[in-house]
Amino acid sequence: MKDNVILIGFMGAGKTSVSRALAKAENLPLVDIDEMIEKEAGMVASEIFRLYGEERFRQMETEMLEKLIRETDHSVISVGGGLPVREINRRLMRELGTVVFLNVKAETVLKRLEGDTTRPMLYADDKEKRVNDLLAFRSPLYREAAHIVIDTDDKTIRQVAREVARTALGVTGCGESQ
Ligand code: S3P
Repeated sequence: MKDNVILIGFMGAGKTSVSRALAKAENLPLVDIDEMIEKEAGMVASEIFRLYGEERFRQMETEMLEKLIRETDHSVISVGGGLPVREINRRLMRELGTVVFLNVKAETVLKRLEGDTTRPMLYADDKEKRVNDLLAFRSPLYREAAHIVIDTDDKTIRQVAREVARTALGVTGCGESQ
């Protein structure tokens, strides 16, 4: 197993923000799989979904994990909310390092993503039902993939980043004063 920290969780769990805070505080390289995919495809995720469909996007996620296993170590890695749904991706992530599940409640997701139009998986007439259904389906898979689970509701990005550092990196304070 390699020595990366991989942040997983539902859309709106704070993976992107927490990974940035953690990488900065710990002076570690930061990798964002969604960004890698968008850069390679030359378009944003919602465009990839629209033009090529979800399955193609999922395939690109698997390819990126394989690439990271070949090329990346000692980094903070943030992945898209649906990546752990594929069984092979859960296995690849655990090869890549310590997997941290940022847990979030449906009501928090809805609050944080109010007005957001960038998430193709949430394009639905009844967004609340969509979030609840997807979360119910995905939560056991996130737990299955994770070494560590952190509840993020009512916590700041900085607090969650510190908790990740303490539990996954085995350090306290995240390089900041307490
Ligand atoms: C997705 C989540 C998105 C992005 C894509 C699909 C999902 O990432 O990968 O829109 O299936 O949950 P975030 O979790 O960073 O929003």
